[in-house]
Amino acid sequence: MDQDIQEILFTPAEIAAANQKLGQQLARDYHGKNPLFVCVLKGAILFLTDLVRQIPESVEIDFMDVSSYHGKTTSSGEVKILKDLDVSVAGRDVVFVEDIIDTGKTLKALMDLFASRKAKSVKIVSLVDKPAHREQVVQADYIGLTCPDKFIVGYGMDYQENYRNLPYIGVLKSEVYL
Ligand code: PRP
Ligand code: MN
Ligand code: MG
Repeated sequence: MDQDIQEILFTPAEIAAANQKLGQQLARDYHGKNPLFVCVLKGAILFLTDLVRQIPESVEIDFMDVSSYHGKTTSSGEVKILKDLDVSVAGRDVVFVEDIIDTGKTLKALMDLFASRKAKSVKIVSLVDKPAHREQVVQADYIGLTCPDKFIVGYGMDYQENYRNLPYIGVLKSEVYL
């Protein structure tokens, strides 16, 4: 285990079980629809790649790069679009793929942006929900795991760009960021 991790909150097996459950729900709900899965970089990259492998039919994948934390442990509220989609979403069934919903600001900004883009439908799948600090009302349609009010890293989630590769989700030791 990485020396900066205080405890493991979700093991690789628990993450895999959540992915399997979410993949089954999505496969059922999007059967025959050729949905567009939008991976919200960078945090959702590991989740996206594991999630889509649970879906037996073809889906399309694209990426948006959005950032709001700017190296801190809480969201700045200023959501920057660093990379937009390559494809049009007009008439498409869009699924935002997120690693975590914390304040809700990132997904609120994305949902607002997509309101004018004429997608057929826009839904949200998030591996982790952290409801303690919600500032924007965001309704995730699919949630894998619910986490307590702790700063977590791993499985895509970072602190100052580190720890994304860890195969588990763990609580970061507070001395790392205090
Ligand atoms: C993190 C995380 C979510 C978002 C959740 O991304 O990956 O996208 O914050 O927080 P919120 O609900 O308070 O907006 P971050 O901005 O750190 O960029 P990253 O994915 O590149 O790490
Ligand atoms: Mn992110
Ligand atoms: Mg981050």
